[in-house]
Amino acid sequence: MSQTVTATPLSQVSSQWLVLFLAENAPLPAAASALDQQIGGAIAKLRERGDFTGKLGEMVDLFHAPGAKAERICLVGLGEGPSLHVARLEKAAMSAARRVSVRAAVSVAFAIPELPGNVSLAGAVQTLRCSAEVGSVGQGLYRAEKDRHKFTSVEIVVPSAQNLEGLQEAASRGEILGQGINVTRELVNLAPADLYPETFAARAQQVAKEVGLKCEVFDEKRLEAEKMGSLLAVARGSVRPPRVVLFEYRGAGADQPVLSFIGKGVTFDSGGLSLKPSDGMKTMKADMSGAATVLGAMTAIARLKLPVNILGAVGLVENMPSGSAYKLGDILTARNGVTIEVLNTDAEGRLVLADVLSYVVDQKVAKMVDLATLTGACVVALGEEVAGAFTNNQPWCDQVLQAAARAGEDMWQLPMFDSFAEQLRCDTADIKNVGTRWGGAITAAKFLERFVGGIPWVHLDIAGPAFAESQKPHKDGGATGAMVRTLVELAASAT
Ligand code: BES
Ligand code: MN
Ligand code: ZN
Repeated sequence: MSQTVTATPLSQVSSQWLVLFLAENAPLPAAASALDQQIGGAIAKLRERGDFTGKLGEMVDLFHAPGAKAERICLVGLGEGPSLHVARLEKAAMSAARRVSVRAAVSVAFAIPELPGNVSLAGAVQTLRCSAEVGSVGQGLYRAEKDRHKFTSVEIVVPSAQNLEGLQEAASRGEILGQGINVTRELVNLAPADLYPETFAARAQQVAKEVGLKCEVFDEKRLEAEKMGSLLAVARGSVRPPRVVLFEYRGAGADQPVLSFIGKGVTFDSGGLSLKPSDGMKTMKADMSGAATVLGAMTAIARLKLPVNILGAVGLVENMPSGSAYKLGDILTARNGVTIEVLNTDAEGRLVLADVLSYVVDQKVAKMVDLATLTGACVVALGEEVAGAFTNNQPWCDQVLQAAARAGEDMWQLPMFDSFAEQLRCDTADIKNVGTRWGGAITAAKFLERFVGGIPWVHLDIAGPAFAESQKPHKDGGATGAMVRTLVELAASAT
């Protein structure tokens, strides 16, 4: 897919589709107005008649616009209000990219909208280019006939010919970010028969090699040697052996602090002996989303050559019931020596993360962020589109929240009161792996806190946003690639 940034007058843009973003209840911006004059006032007429209002994500196609060189024009609503937030622009851009990529071999041009809000021109170019990349790839991994198609070319049309080179770089950053998101989406969408710890690790090694990331895989023998008793217990019920994969990216000097991204990689969560009902199991191939997010983000960070040091670490297991499965009442010894009584084998994510967190702590990292589809309780608390944030260090959490806001991803912090840790008190072992029914997302975070050794840490529960049950105009049902943008933004600002 070729990509250009130009300052072509809109009527002269010669791609098959021209995508034009228009706000609600605002006069037509100059460039759109000039185009409208060339095409006989068609846009003004649509607006007068109420056939196009500019509501966020609204789309109207003009299939015949003599006077314009583009074969078709797609009008997309940006919604109302003076401040155009990046999330709004992205929703509009994703809707358009999904719309115009339904046919194969299409060339598309996106006209940068008037930007009265807090989005910079470079930021808008990056967002549009990223959306073109993500929106043109569907979820039909296993379909013979794809429902969406990569564009042959993407042109981004800006209002003036100033700094086109700089904007071309912004477009390239958007392309890289979009491809990182698509790496995550593909891994999450893969069927559990195809993606299990060994194949995830193999894919990770291949991707890491392509982008120049150092990658190390721990097999079960190495995990034994590392005394990862908690992670190994979860893996025991499956015929698929576990893996831990480490990614090392050095973009800054050896004397600079190392940031760590840690991901939950349960390639299928049946619940184990605490078996999930069928309905709750349907999307559990996506229980490795945290791990896939770490990999997707790190490929983008490496390709962007951001000046940071990052250690990525993912714990990969399959949680299955069987004759060898770990049992309720089992006492596990985690890597850091903490003993854990298992009272629910479906609270497995925290057991996997416990050992990976403790390993990362020993590598002397400065700060950590873990990502996990950890609890249904977090989805109850915050809904399907908001990530929960939990921390032992408020300034670090503020940095993560701000990165999410800049990336246009919804995230909300939940408290970490000590009363939640009391729920994990246990008579037979140091802690048990579940608390009561209430506040389950927080008890899970309190459990993890036992393994972070006091290092500044943020836990992101992405059980809601990682996987969409059904499609929306701006996004497909299935894997979303949520939080890749935020991690990349964080890495770009954590220097
Ligand atoms: N992977 C699930 C959490 C989950 C639920 C993710 C729904 C996405 C959508 C996790 O391993 C789990 O089963 N958590 C339990 C914890 C409970 C047993 C304390 C849950 O949320 O019910
Ligand atoms: Mn579970
Ligand atoms: Zn799980």
